[in-house]
Amino acid sequence: AMISLRQLLDHAAEHSYGVPAFNVNNLEQIQAIMQAAQRTNSPVILQASAGARKYAGEPFLRKMVEAAAEMYPDIPIVMHQDHGASPAQCLQSIRSGFTSVMMDGSLQEDAKTPASYDYNVDVTRRVVEMAHAVGVSVEGELGCLGSLESGLAGEEDGVGAEGALTHEQMLTDPEQAADFVRRTGVDALAIAIGTSHGAYKFSRQPTGDILAIDRIKAIHQRIPDTHLVMHGSSSVPQEWLAVIREHGGDIKETYGVPVAEIREGIRHGVRKVNIDTDIRLAMTGAMRRAMARTPSEFDPRKFLKDALVAARDLCAQRFEAFGTAGQA
Ligand code: G3H
Ligand code: 13P
Ligand code: ZN
Repeated sequence: AMISLRQLLDHAAEHSYGVPAFNVNNLEQIQAIMQAAQRTNSPVILQASAGARKYAGEPFLRKMVEAAAEMYPDIPIVMHQDHGASPAQCLQSIRSGFTSVMMDGSLQEDAKTPASYDYNVDVTRRVVEMAHAVGVSVEGELGCLGSLESGLAGEEDGVGAEGALTHEQMLTDPEQAADFVRRTGVDALAIAIGTSHGAYKFSRQPTGDILAIDRIKAIHQRIPDTHLVMHGSSSVPQEWLAVIREHGGDIKETYGVPVAEIREGIRHGVRKVNIDTDIRLAMTGAMRRAMARTPSEFDPRKFLKDALVAARDLCAQRFEAFGTAGQA
């Protein structure tokens, strides 16, 4: 059944677990997540970016998620719009049947240029007003998702660094978070606590202390009823990087957020954990390997099946690790 993000995360908060929010673009990704959810008895958040809508087309996305709900009637599903760039875009998704939308007002409508705080409050408040009128949840974003390591603004959705920022500037300010929530009424808030989007998060093996845990605690204390969201939460599995490299791929040395760190974040109030890159890496690794092993095969279902299984197993691991398993 389709439920709102507020309904799911209220339950998660009450029972102290986190929920992975997986990005979806096609049939195999949706099937992989649903199969993992079925196996582990987990509720799911399927999220679609503007890029996903462009790739699949709005009707296909909508119908595929409807199909997932029909095939798995016992699994609660949140259909969430990832990184909405404007109130208009959020309204389109609400009309399309999404049960939750993210208004990312930390950036201007071009989705690259950092926006002012007042702009962020204004657009987010407008989306909350529309969305809540029809029972749809809203996620906002406050802070700059960058790379603490480089001190650069980092890759906010594929956009290059905008300039050097200090460590402090990049983390979400707890005082401002409280003001933001008071003025907008968001259900969930994406916070900057040391993660960044994409495969290239850290150039050296993390040794703990990747996440600004004290900052998570301070924010959670200020806004206990607003669910905290961590973007850029892929762990960038070294096993899949190795498979990709062994079969002709070319990916530089890179590290993600260790699962143990994410669990620590969940212990201190993180409820929604965004993951896209890990699924991309697992599917690409599995397809490269399958194609290399069976060069005479030309039925794409064979390769896609391997990709699905790789994504499914990765998702199941995250459901188990974040405490989502058994909560459907
Ligand atoms: O946060 C961004 C997600 O990884 C979606 O990426 O815009 O390429 O679909 P995308
Ligand atoms: P990753 O690139 O770490 O998978 O993050 C995805 C994300 O935050 C989507 O909004
Ligand atoms: Zn994101």
